[in-house]
Amino acid sequence: MKILIVGSGGREHAIAASAAKSKKVSKIYCAPGNAGIGQIAECVPIGPMEFDKIRAFAKEKEIDLTIVGMDDPLVGGLVDELEKEGLRVFGPRKNAAILEGSKAFSKNLMKKYHIPTASYETFDCAEDAINYLERVEFPIVLKADGLALGKGVLICEDLKEAKDGVKTIMQDKQFGDAGSRLVIEEFLTGREVSVLSYVDGRTIKTMTSAQDHKRAEDGDMGLNTGGMGTFSPSPFYTKEVDEFCKKYIYQATVDAMAAEGREFKGIIFFGLMLTDKGPRVLEYNARFGDPEAQVVLPRMKNDIIEVMEACIDGRLDEIDLQFEDNAAVCVVLASKGYPVKYEKGFVINGLEKFEGQDSYFCFHAGTKMTEKGIVTNGGRVLGVTAKGKDLKEARKHAYEAAEWVTFENKYMRHDIGKAIDEI
Ligand code: AMP
Ligand code: GLY
Repeated sequence: MKILIVGSGGREHAIAASAAKSKKVSKIYCAPGNAGIGQIAECVPIGPMEFDKIRAFAKEKEIDLTIVGMDDPLVGGLVDELEKEGLRVFGPRKNAAILEGSKAFSKNLMKKYHIPTASYETFDCAEDAINYLERVEFPIVLKADGLALGKGVLICEDLKEAKDGVKTIMQDKQFGDAGSRLVIEEFLTGREVSVLSYVDGRTIKTMTSAQDHKRAEDGDMGLNTGGMGTFSPSPFYTKEVDEFCKKYIYQATVDAMAAEGREFKGIIFFGLMLTDKGPRVLEYNARFGDPEAQVVLPRMKNDIIEVMEACIDGRLDEIDLQFEDNAAVCVVLASKGYPVKYEKGFVINGLEKFEGQDSYFCFHAGTKMTEKGIVTNGGRVLGVTAKGKDLKEARKHAYEAAEWVTFENKYMRHDIGKAIDEI
């Protein structure tokens, strides 16, 4: 089979690495890809939102399966565009990707179908939002409705901060049109867990759990980022939590989407908060997490292409999803200054140490091949993943391997997976 992967991050590198292990795959293309993906796939200079070019490319190369890794093209309807041409695609159609594309939609869905989540109100007008804020308890959470690179969520400690937040989102439009509508949500406390799942429209199969570290600095300080590191499985995701989620959240979400005429095929990523009243859905994503994919996929035993095809064909119930009985930790190596301002173009050394390793992986995110060699080309540059017999060993290995690579302005958190010391 000839595969086309759409995206250019560490997540897409992890997907490409899994696809490369599939017996079914003879050739992988990636649009646009990065320097690491380029070592296992042919990268083509087409952007993820260039739907016409992607369609023309997929037809010309007779692509058997396109995998859309990123949220923007999913929410924008790339799957529908390709399907119109009779192409096979893994990912939700536009009417289902709204599960991630609109927080107001997903909150209303959860309310209608009694799926446990934080209480909330939605607003189309800043004045109404501000009036409402006069009556709430703090802290409170403000969320821009649409996609905002994971940055459209503000946790506000008091009324002044919240009023400023409404202005930032709805009037100054810091997140663009994503902020035309606002969700104001109850603040929840607890431990966060990410559970990614395959969905075929009716059946859902969850993958092993993971935990992200969203803040830029150690101790969960600093700004929110796309994610600075992950570990899998989460020891806080107990059997009891799993049973609760299976009963009230996972299948209920798939059934709710089907009942709304929005059949979901692809990945549903459940962002959960384990509160003392039980698990609550913080958010849905319609794709693999980044960097969750970098710890979950290396532990998956199944052939990823077989699983994806089963989702497309509505026979996921036939798949026995299996994960290795070990652990993985991913440490993101970023450019100093991320997520705000950072320099690019520095040569990366030491990448060859990962060649031929089977429990160490260096997933590329913001990298580019140049005449000087591979250089930094983004905020999150690499994701170094290591497996181990347990989380402690995996973490030790990941931090050792993180030192194999050097580049100017290299920055990482030093406490990825530290939470496991508490148990
Ligand atoms: P989201 O993009 O909705 O996942 O939000 C980004 C981050 O904001 C989450 O990973 C949480 O850390 C935090 N967050 C979102 N919603 C809430 C909430 N209701 N209570 C507390 N923290 C939240
Ligand atoms: N790591 C969080 C996300 O992919 O949205």
